[in-house]
Amino acid sequence: MRLMVTGGAGFIGSAVVRQAIADGHHVLNVDKLTYAANPENVASVAGHERYRFAQNDICDQPAMAALLDAFRPDTVMHLAAETHVDRSIDGPRAFIDTNIIGTYCLLEAARGYIEDSAAPVGFRFHHISTDEVYGSLGPTGAFTETSPYHPNSPYSAAKASSDMLARAWAETFGVPVVITNCSNNYGSHQFPEKLIPVVIINALEGKDIPVYGKGDNVRDWLHVSDHADALLLVAQQGAHGETYNIGGRAERTNLELVKMVCAILDEELTEARAGPHETLIKYVEDRPGHDHRYAINCDKIERDLGWAPSITIEDGMRQTVRWYLDNKDWWTKIRARGFDVTARQGLK
Ligand code: NAD
Ligand code: TYD
Repeated sequence: MRLMVTGGAGFIGSAVVRQAIADGHHVLNVDKLTYAANPENVASVAGHERYRFAQNDICDQPAMAALLDAFRPDTVMHLAAETHVDRSIDGPRAFIDTNIIGTYCLLEAARGYIEDSAAPVGFRFHHISTDEVYGSLGPTGAFTETSPYHPNSPYSAAKASSDMLARAWAETFGVPVVITNCSNNYGSHQFPEKLIPVVIINALEGKDIPVYGKGDNVRDWLHVSDHADALLLVAQQGAHGETYNIGGRAERTNLELVKMVCAILDEELTEARAGPHETLIKYVEDRPGHDHRYAINCDKIERDLGWAPSITIEDGMRQTVRWYLDNKDWWTKIRARGFDVTARQGLK
């Protein structure tokens, strides 16, 4: 395939790019390089003859049209977004700009690409989204592809809007759209403001581990390389106009997950510390509008495309902890740029 991947210098996008190159595809990575991006995430493929990079904002519609025209992809995989819920509460504007306007610009550029007859037969636009668009669940049940949208944060509202735009551009203008909605990802190269890297890095530095509220919110966790595999499968075999939910069948409360990471660190770190890492847990003020529970029913992608998560949360989390232990350089450089969640929350 010739893949134009947006947001390919971020956490999930870079996993997709690395996997796509390994699978033999041609990749054009389009990324604005916001604070959340890191060119080091794609350093292993940067010199590859099938890899190209363009530093552009997806809100720049003429630039998107020019890139489509020059690269002639048969698939767009659209991952570029503002993604951190806490930031969307502190300042929603960037989420409206990138997630809504940016998606609109990309859809319009794709429409032009098709209408000018430049797009190859079978061209498709894969819009990558989140389970957060469905809102919050009670103690039972799981989101299916037909669950009503009920976004509660500026982030999820902006992602829900972008899903609706993608749907409308398919129905009205015939852009061949496929949408995926995935649960929480974890793995290597995740920016150190999201829960798992925050826990690992703070524990390593002997700092407080911030757990919002009582830590009883439930998320369904999927290893990022399982997500990348699912995305590349949907990009090739997903049916036009369809939505596929992707999940890990690994629901945990935040507290269970934080304790799991702490227990792995207790085993992995040989240096003595006074007591288990979980003694660093500090309950902090809850996130406003904090969704209580997400769970994904991924029967459809399993049944129709034969995908299933392959990495257990126990193995995947140990791998992830080891990656952060072995790649201190990666995250110390980011921290040196001023991203320290602990300081932001006034913790020790
Ligand atoms: P991330 O924040 O790590 O990376 C986002 C990337 O998009 C960055 O490289 C950034 O520079 C780029 N970007 C942002 N604004 C841009 C713009 N205007 N133009 C061009 N590039 C821009 O995000 P992630 O966690 O890898 O998430 C990727 C996608 O997957 C997002 O669409 C997100 O909604 C979705 N998703 C994420 C998760 C998760 O758990 N992280 C779960 C489900 C779905
Ligand atoms: P996050 O990684 O921000 O993903 P999302 O909010 O998109 O699910 O957070 C995952 C969960 O962890 C969420 O319920 C909020 C919680 N959380 C904490 O308890 N402490 C933290 O420091 C962070 C960043 C998140």
